[in-house]
Amino acid sequence: MPRDAGLAAYEERYRVVYDAGARFWNEHQPHPLLIDRARRLPAGAAVVEFGCGEGFEARALAALGLRVTAIDLSPAVIAKARAETSASLDVSYLVGDVTDLEALLPQGGAFAMGVDVHCLHMMSDAQDRRAYLSEAKRLLRPGGLFYMQDMLSLDDVIPANDDEVRAVAEMRVFKAGHTGGGSTPRTIRTANGEKEVVLPLCPGCRAQSLAQYKSELETAGFTIGLAERGGSPDNGFAAIIIATAEGSRMKGE
Ligand SMILES: C[S@@+](CC[C@H](N)C(=O)[O-])C[C@H]1O[C@@H](n2cnc3c(N)ncnc32)[C@H](O)[C@@H]1O
Repeated sequence: MPRDAGLAAYEERYRVVYDAGARFWNEHQPHPLLIDRARRLPAGAAVVEFGCGEGFEARALAALGLRVTAIDLSPAVIAKARAETSASLDVSYLVGDVTDLEALLPQGGAFAMGVDVHCLHMMSDAQDRRAYLSEAKRLLRPGGLFYMQDMLSLDDVIPANDDEVRAVAEMRVFKAGHTGGGSTPRTIRTANGEKEVVLPLCPGCRAQSLAQYKSELETAGFTIGLAERGGSPDNGFAAIIIATAEGSRMKGE
């Protein structure tokens, strides 16, 4: 599928969900590891979030006294995130493509922390992934932190109990039936009860093993601090990596 068609699928998904009367597509609590690391930043430190979706992490980080810039390519979800964010929180929401942020955020080294919650794995194209990680590195100050929480390849999930074994098996069946693009029925919660909708599926998605994510980040110039398996059957098995941007690097270097 052409790249633009793929990107349009996100916008359509969010629109279908909101038009059907749902308040959120993916209501969730930020991971405790993210909050723990963010708490250690100085008050007022600048944080950038990539692929922020409905803004759950952005709001939680701003509530800690951080200044947050949150980017997503879907105008519908950025409008939703803005509408859900109190004026007392310092969050600047931007519509943009994280693979090229030069025009939106020209100043390199401006952020103490970058956050990616399920953004990187949505990119199937190797060049997009490299361009995105290069932008993340450019925007962080030397020594800045990159918190990444992305979908783990099912082959690398180590189920902790029978529920997780079942969840992995179900996800395998789903994945086997959806190899990119198309649509899927979903039940969503609205103010008037549950509703069935049909959602376009995003065409590309490249979940990696923990080792593969680590290698991608190292290639992009990050130094890995913590790397572990996390998440849950409900919100997806995840690789969680906290890395450091050791040296500043300009775009194209
Ligand atoms: C799986 S959702 C996760 C959203 C949010 N972080 C969360 O956890 O609820 C992935 C998000 O990344 C956004 N996205 C995907 N590719 C992007 C790109 N190239 N630039 C900006 N946002 C992108 C999508 O629009 C979507 O909102």
